[in-house]
Amino acid sequence: MIDRYCVFGHPVAHSRSPIIHAAFAEQTGEAIDYTAIEAPLDDFAGAWRAFVAEGGRGANVTVPFKEEAFRLCDTLSRRAQRARAVNTLILGGNGETYGDTTDGVGLVRDLVDHGVALEGARILVLGAGGAVRGVLEPLLATRPASLFVANRTAEKAAELAEDFTDLGDIAGGGFDAVAGPFDVVINGTSASLAGDLPPLPEDLFAAGATAYDMMYGAEPTVFLQWAAERGARCRDGLGMLVEQAAESFFQWRGKRPDTAPVRELLRRSLS
Ligand code: ATR
Repeated sequence: MIDRYCVFGHPVAHSRSPIIHAAFAEQTGEAIDYTAIEAPLDDFAGAWRAFVAEGGRGANVTVPFKEEAFRLCDTLSRRAQRARAVNTLILGGNGETYGDTTDGVGLVRDLVDHGVALEGARILVLGAGGAVRGVLEPLLATRPASLFVANRTAEKAAELAEDFTDLGDIAGGGFDAVAGPFDVVINGTSASLAGDLPPLPEDLFAAGATAYDMMYGAEPTVFLQWAAERGARCRDGLGMLVEQAAESFFQWRGKRPDTAPVRELLRRSLS
């Protein structure tokens, strides 16, 4: 029986993961089947068990199931424990479920592969929700000089940062506490979805700074437009999407796909 993988979400029809993993499979010669499955909102664990019973070997997990996936795992990677969320499920030989989160490594790899220096950098992360929690451990592992988490709800940022103080120089607060300049500014809020821009000071960016938005689309987000007008080098989250998928694929199949052509494929499909 062919090894089966899937992405669970609700809704999930929009997910690009099947396209990405089909491209990885073709490139690496791995014979896998990868589909999108809309799991019921009230029984994610049941959907995973049913999938395993039908030959499922692993899965990606997207909104709104990442926390529920975390709870059903028998064992977890350290970064998933920190994230309190899982985007990659792996069925072990013993039938146990192992959970990992590859979003943060995906973000870091996309930045580093594009020449963005993180070690020693002054980093600002906007937002304090699940998406940001998921990337803090890998970001701090790059040994930045400092990392500030800014959020509309200041207390959430302060509490989130508090959970990571053992890993590096990290603090959190409201947007009014943002004091630049920064070398790297990462937008992990969902403000772009509403076309909103967090209130940010004009002197946010150091010379040669990079602005990154975890979101992506056919057009630059409001945040990236604002950043480009202020001279920052801009990247959207499409690369992060492909890199997190590549890391999941590596964990399942032991092969590292070449991400550049897949990124191009997706970019073309957006326009
Ligand atoms: P996700 O899983 O995408 O992180 P989330 O946990 O709901 O989703 O978090 C959304 C994040 O975007 C939060 O940091 C939220 O700020 P609050 O904690 O103050 O709610 C932020 N956000 C959403 N809409 C925003 C907006 N219009 N302006 C600024 N921040 C916004």
